[in-house]
Amino acid sequence: MTDHIRISKSDGLLTMVIDRPAKKNALTDAMYKALADSLEAAHDDPEVRAILLRGEGDMFTAGNDVGEFAAIAMSGQQPQHVTRFLRALATATKPIVAAVHGRAVGVGVTMLLHCDHVVLSDDAQLTTPFVNLALVPEAASSLLLPARIGHVRAFAMFALGEPVSAQDAVAWGIANKAVPAGELVATAEGFARRLAAQPTGALTATKALMRDSAALLARIDTENQRFFERLKSSEAREAFMAFARRTR
Ligand code: COA
Repeated sequence: MTDHIRISKSDGLLTMVIDRPAKKNALTDAMYKALADSLEAAHDDPEVRAILLRGEGDMFTAGNDVGEFAAIAMSGQQPQHVTRFLRALATATKPIVAAVHGRAVGVGVTMLLHCDHVVLSDDAQLTTPFVNLALVPEAASSLLLPARIGHVRAFAMFALGEPVSAQDAVAWGIANKAVPAGELVATAEGFARRLAAQPTGALTATKALMRDSAALLARIDTENQRFFERLKSSEAREAFMAFARRTR
């Protein structure tokens, strides 16, 4: 269990809140477990008709906990739940709406590619600095991001960690709309509640027709092999140490 993921259910809407503001909502394996458990349970739960994902504090999430990356690099032990979470996202049957404010980093961006409706606050900034950390993209983003925004834009995001503004993210098709920060949660929740009021069978069948889950799972497996090879490399260890020194 973790205190850093809050889950609630009301009127057909499952809400998942990332709540670790002191660490910029960086995601630990315990947090991935809570998210994966919740997504997996939603799969067959008739009381869940739509899912809303958002973050507390001043940003959506700073991505994977870099300290946990460093621990994996040292121990060689793979985390248990991150892949479960990514697979649950890729195979989710219920529609997922995301509300994203401030920064979204790494998996904070790649998880959006599995969402069905994404609302950003005007100040949102998306970055995927995998190569900066001597890593490779995950969550099937090496497939989904170039397909969504084109190879050259996706490459700049992955290879240089180039930030993408809320306005560009909307123009490029990563998100539906950007709204003032004060309207973010109500806008996203309003859309999710509209989805929850739709006929569930037709909605889940439509989502299933629009996504090739088998291809996504295959890409997640391929990326994972590269990711964990890279994670144990000396260049990755240096990058994690540089982050630790920076925050001391
Ligand atoms: N993992 C672990 N801790 C993190 C974190 C992460 N991904 N991102 C932020 N934190 C922690 C910092 O270590 C710091 O902890 P401390 O107060 O105990 O020192 C706290 O959160 C605040 O972070 P800080 O860097 O001071 O905030 P900021 O507003 O100046 O910068 C970011 C925010 C997101 C730009 C910056 O924290 C960052 O670059 N984080 C790493 C992002 C990343 O590389 N994620 C992995 C992608 S694959």
